[in-house]
Amino acid sequence: MDFPIFHLDFIGNRALIAIIAVLHAVINHALAVGLMPVVAMLEIKGFRLLKTNPELAEKWDALAYRILFVAFLITTTIGAMTGVGIWFSASLVNPASIASLIRVFFGAWFVEWLVFVTEVVLILFYFLTWKKLKANLLQKFKHVKYGLFLSFFSWITMAIIVSILSFMMDTGNWNNDRTFLYGFLNPVYLPQLFFRTPLAMTMGGMIAMFLTLIYTRKDLEFRKVALRSISKWVLIWGPLAAAGAMLYYYMIPKSLVGNLPVAMGTLEFQNWYSQIVVIVIVAIGLVIGMANWSYFRPQTAPAWLAGVSILLVVGLMGHFERLREFIRKPYVIGEYMYSNGLRVEDYPLLQRDGVLKHANFVASKEVTDDNMLEAGRDVFILTCSRCHTTNGAVNPMTGKFTDMFGTKPWETAQLKGYIKNMHSARYFMPPFPGNDRELDALCAYIKELQTNPQPVSGAQDGLGFNKPKPSQPVAAVR
Ligand code: HEC
Repeated sequence: MDFPIFHLDFIGNRALIAIIAVLHAVINHALAVGLMPVVAMLEIKGFRLLKTNPELAEKWDALAYRILFVAFLITTTIGAMTGVGIWFSASLVNPASIASLIRVFFGAWFVEWLVFVTEVVLILFYFLTWKKLKANLLQKFKHVKYGLFLSFFSWITMAIIVSILSFMMDTGNWNNDRTFLYGFLNPVYLPQLFFRTPLAMTMGGMIAMFLTLIYTRKDLEFRKVALRSISKWVLIWGPLAAAGAMLYYYMIPKSLVGNLPVAMGTLEFQNWYSQIVVIVIVAIGLVIGMANWSYFRPQTAPAWLAGVSILLVVGLMGHFERLREFIRKPYVIGEYMYSNGLRVEDYPLLQRDGVLKHANFVASKEVTDDNMLEAGRDVFILTCSRCHTTNGAVNPMTGKFTDMFGTKPWETAQLKGYIKNMHSARYFMPPFPGNDRELDALCAYIKELQTNPQPVSGAQDGLGFNKPKPSQPVAAVR
């Protein structure tokens, strides 16, 4: 609570991070981690033929280059920007959690930075020197090495970040013994890495397959040879991704799995669960089917089907990331910090003194009869706004209470009763961290929202900075 609170009251803060993060994860896995080794493999195929069959060697080389071109364009623009964007948006929305993560992972993050810069330099080298380093075998050999290094560094960046992601899900022994190693080697880390690595490789292979189908339309003989190697790649990694998914699922702590059916598609869609499992099976089946098709019948394999399989896998991956984020709730860092940015160990203090007293950017530190609404709004901002909007498109407070208590004026006792119990009612919500007076104020504010729905702004619009005079009504404060 040392930070002013950024808040988007229409799409919600979670959606902001989710959009950037999912876009990044898909680009990173498919085009950097997964596709770079495929490009390197294709280049090596050509390299090996340079002496014996220069004509065919050139075909491999040209194909590898054209595939790299697509990856280069996207990873160095949207890929790199969203990569930085994740941490930027996450620090805006939940600075306390990022601050804690930096304390635990400082060394790893520093290494990550070095590796990331190396990766960017390597991809620039790899792409921009492709045409230059071609004059003789020795030069080409050097260039091939860039590809291998690039593949390795792309994987390392992912491997470091995955540790942080899995730490957030399950801190494991770190909660007893707060050392870096316990944090880094948390229980979900390796299973998640064993899942993401083959998933990335499969996605990279599928993209290469799709592009090859497009680029070799006029050379069906070569298409046959090229598709065979690429589909072999997919056929090796695809089943490993399925196995990794199972291992990962098995390693997720039981309490997290308890949230899973809800996570799959929010409350209303709990019964989507079975449908989603079907989509998983269809997507994986389609990928493996497509790889088989292009292995055994490369001449007739349709590009559109490869495209559809890619879209399905991308959709699935987006869903998986959303799920990973959801099942972690009510924590942002497993059993250490709740998603509202408050540490579990601070709860007794906050519940005694109130959250306002310990917050720096609030209009007043205490609830009085005169400031009920304004204090209630600040309590809402501090305790609910990381996950709820007041009346926006995503998870709106008014909508949730209307679903529960209908449209007639809500009773304070109803609201209080629910919020006091919200963690037991819905495990994925943290317990209410404030004191009783603050709960009264929050209920007054929620009741005001029912009759007079007003969007609430975040620190970016001055909330918490422009301290209002006590007599000023909430609406005027903005
Ligand atoms: C960690 C994130 C998080 C926090 C913090 C949080 N909620 Fe929620 N809340 C959710 C999610 C997720 C849902 C379920 C949304 C859906 O319907 O899919 C939910 C649902 C609800 C519901 C509807 C429950 C039901 O059974 O239908 C109410 C009421 C609610 N929240 C009130 C609050 C209040 C009041 C606060 C602040 C004191 C709060 N929440 C804080 C995440 C959170």
